[in-house]
Amino acid sequence: MKINENTLLEGHNAVLVPYNAEHVPRYHEWMKSPELQQLTASEPLTLEQEYDMQKSWREDDDKCTFIILDKQRWADTSVEEEQCMVGDVNIFLTDPTDPSLAELEVMIAEPSHRGKGIGKEVTRMMMSYGVTKLGVKKFEVKIGLDNQVSVAMFKKLHFQEVSVCKVFKEVTLEMMVDEPVRARLLDDTADMKERDYRQTCSNRQELVSQ
Ligand SMILES: CC(C)(COP(=O)(O)OP(=O)(O)OC[C@H]1O[C@@H](n2cnc3c(N)ncnc32)[C@H](O)[C@@H]1OP(=O)(O)O)[C@@H](O)C(=O)NCCC(=O)NCCS
Repeated sequence: MKINENTLLEGHNAVLVPYNAEHVPRYHEWMKSPELQQLTASEPLTLEQEYDMQKSWREDDDKCTFIILDKQRWADTSVEEEQCMVGDVNIFLTDPTDPSLAELEVMIAEPSHRGKGIGKEVTRMMMSYGVTKLGVKKFEVKIGLDNQVSVAMFKKLHFQEVSVCKVFKEVTLEMMVDEPVRARLLDDTADMKERDYRQTCSNRQELVSQ
């Protein structure tokens, strides 16, 4: 969707930026990994298909995506943005009759950046954005039964297991955003800052010099 095409969300260790064409080559490299294909239940795409996919994430009203950047690295203006990418986080509005229902996906593609709290941080940031800007009232995640790390992370974030599909070997977890959940989420992301992406790009060092 276009709502976040110039939105930057700043957290403690990560910065979320809109998924642009310049991110596609690195994204495409990541998705050649059989491990990531399996963990995210994705099919490999050609580079051309990946560019089409980027366009569809930007244009379609039911999809919202951010690329996750290493904040410390990105604040160094000598490093190209593509070299700061560590993963992505997405919301997909699955039900055309109910835009308050969102499927959530997160991927820390760079193994060196896993297990450092970034997955949890960016998931909370995306949920907060989804609740406040997109009006999401229920989140759902579908996770491969073998992906214990991801299941553990979402349970830690208070998602409840609702079903297991043995055929697809996946578990579905969900979270209803009632008032206490909303309050906790906003509290957990109270330090998150929303900025103008293009403006911040030309003044990246301000992220660590405040
Ligand atoms: C799953 C994933 C998003 C988690 O992100 P992360 O940054 O590695 O995780 P975090 O460091 O934020 O940890 C979040 C929680 O996950 C769990 N976790 C993290 N690493 C773990 C490990 N090695 N073993 C078991 N649990 C682990 C813990 O419950 C942790 O919470 P805690 O630190 O408070 O105990 C990330 O590992 C990833 O993207 N993996 C590859 C792709 C993938 O599986 N995507 C999800 C598809 S549904």
